Order: sequence, then C-alpha cells, then structure tokens
Amino acid sequence: MVYHQPVLVDEVIKWLNLKASGVYCDCTVGGAGHLMALLKSNKKAFFIGLDWDDEAITYSSKILKPFKGRYALFLENFVNINQVLKKLKLPGIDGALFDLGVSYHQLTTPKRGFSFEHNGPLLMNMSPYMPPLFKKLPYVKKDELVKVLKEFGDVKNYKKLGRTIYEQRTELKTTHQLRELIEKMVPRRYLKKNLHKVFQALRIWTNNELTNLVAGLQAVFESLKLQGRMLVISYHSGEDRLVKNFFRELSRQKKLKLLNKKVIRPTCAEIKENPRARSARLRVAEKCVSS
Ligand SMILES: C[S@@+](CC[C@H](N)C(=O)[O-])C[C@H]1O[C@@H](n2cnc3c(N)ncnc32)[C@H](O)[C@@H]1O
Repeated sequence: MVYHQPVLVDEVIKWLNLKASGVYCDCTVGGAGHLMALLKSNKKAFFIGLDWDDEAITYSSKILKPFKGRYALFLENFVNINQVLKKLKLPGIDGALFDLGVSYHQLTTPKRGFSFEHNGPLLMNMSPYMPPLFKKLPYVKKDELVKVLKEFGDVKNYKKLGRTIYEQRTELKTTHQLRELIEKMVPRRYLKKNLHKVFQALRIWTNNELTNLVAGLQAVFESLKLQGRMLVISYHSGEDRLVKNFFRELSRQKKLKLLNKKVIRPTCAEIKENPRARSARLRVAEKCVSS
C-alpha cells in the first residue's frame, strides 16, 4: 500500500537548491517521498528527517536503507530542531522543507481515527505522546470548541455544531459516532463538506498544529545558515496565512528574502494524477542575515 504520494516534488528539488556539502532537514518526513527524491537528486548532501509519528519513522527507516550513512531520522516534533542539531553536533542547516498536514497513511488507517470514512477510535493524534481527541474532548470549554470549528475548519454552522458536540463530548469515542452526530444536523447535500471541515478542525486542535507551525518556523529560521532556504507546503488557508505572515514579517525586518512572488501550485497534470495535491501551496524564502 502507498504510504503517501508526495506533492510538488520537482519544485521542491528545484527551490531547495541543494549544495554538495550541504545539510538539509525534512521537518515532516511522513513516508519519505520527498526525502527519497532529494537523496536521489544529490548524492553528496546530508539529510535530517523529523516526524513525530512513530509509524512514519518506522516506515521511512525501512525504505531508506539503501541510502544508509546519508541521512539521520528522528522521532521528534519539528519545533525541537535545535536539540536534534545539538545531538548531531551540527552548527546549522542549509535548507528545510515543511510538508504540512496529514499523511495518506494517517488519514486512511482506521485505527488512527482521523477519517469520517472509516470507523475507528476517535484519536487523531499524530504523535503517540499527544492526548487523543476522545480524551481531550471531556475537558474542553464550550466557547473553545465553537472557536475551533470556526477558526480551524471554517465550519458554516459552527455555533450549532459546536454546542451539540459539546453536549455529547463525554460520549464520543469513535469516528462514526461523531459522523452520525453531524449527519443528524446537516442537510445531505452539504454533509461531505461539513464532515471534512469538522474533522479537519478537530485534528488541527488535537495536534496543536498552528501553534507548532509558528514555533517550528521560528526554530527552523534560527537554525538556518546564511542563504539557507525554507520551503513550506500548506494545504488550507489557516496554515498558509500563518506562513505568509511569518515570511512577510521577517522580510520586512530584512531577515528573509521571499523567493516566489506568487505562491507555487501543482500543475493540472499533477492534480489529475494526484487529486489530493489540489490544495497544495508552496512558499519559499531565503535567510539573508547570519544569526
Ligand atoms: C503530509 S505528511 C508529509 C509527507 C511527506 N512529505 C512524504 O513525502 O511522504 C505530514 C507529516 O508531518 C508530520 N508532522 C506534522 N506536524 C509535525 C510536527 N510538529 N513535528 C514533526 N512532524 C510533524 C505528520 O506526522 C506527517 O507524517
């Protein structure tokens, strides 16, 4: 089975601009699709791979065996890149890639509890060290839940849905229990969109994704050497807005140079071949101060 099909692979290779003796970090290794393409495209660079999901690290370690000695993988949140560099006794990196969001494997493995399509425990935690959704829900405040649906999912009837999920919060243990609750409240023609949005919002909340993203961008920026590049692929407007604002602010302070005026998107051919690529947006910036 395919673990994950990477998006914008040629663009990532082009914009990362690998140097022979460079050190690069794939901050979101997943199924190592990007990392393997990078390893093949430059035989002299060294790669660090991070993912906080143990299944991603186990899978990637297996498929990357032929490249032994040219990479190091860590089960780690990307906000802790600094600690990883210390362990490796490296002063900094020449470039980094973030491919945000959830992997195909996470989404389609029922026991991981990410998807409304498959029944499974209501987990959604990417890292084994994060509390799963069904354990977090009983402690949520009503206003917070409503805000999560509004801000992380752009859910239309966020107030009504938020209140109902709140009332049932201690009962919800499986993905299909949550799905059935939404089914009762949303007209059929809007159902799939609403399911998608509510599940996305709760996933982002479970994993503190946006807080991690801001901290991760800052940590990686600090680890970059002069002229090192940051590439970020995002999949929804909330993520992309944070990346855009982070890049803009540091470019205003003359610490980063924005390399692509217009956001880079997959071609029609790529979207046809991999429909999940359709929402991908790549932004690239280069560090222009030494830290
Ligand atoms: C879209 S997938 C990456 C797919 C990968 N580029 C590939 O080619 O297979 C996103 C991955 O990022 C990981 N991830 C998300 N947030 C993370 C964080 N804060 N620290 C480390 N990994 C994270 C997820 O566990 C997931 O495996």
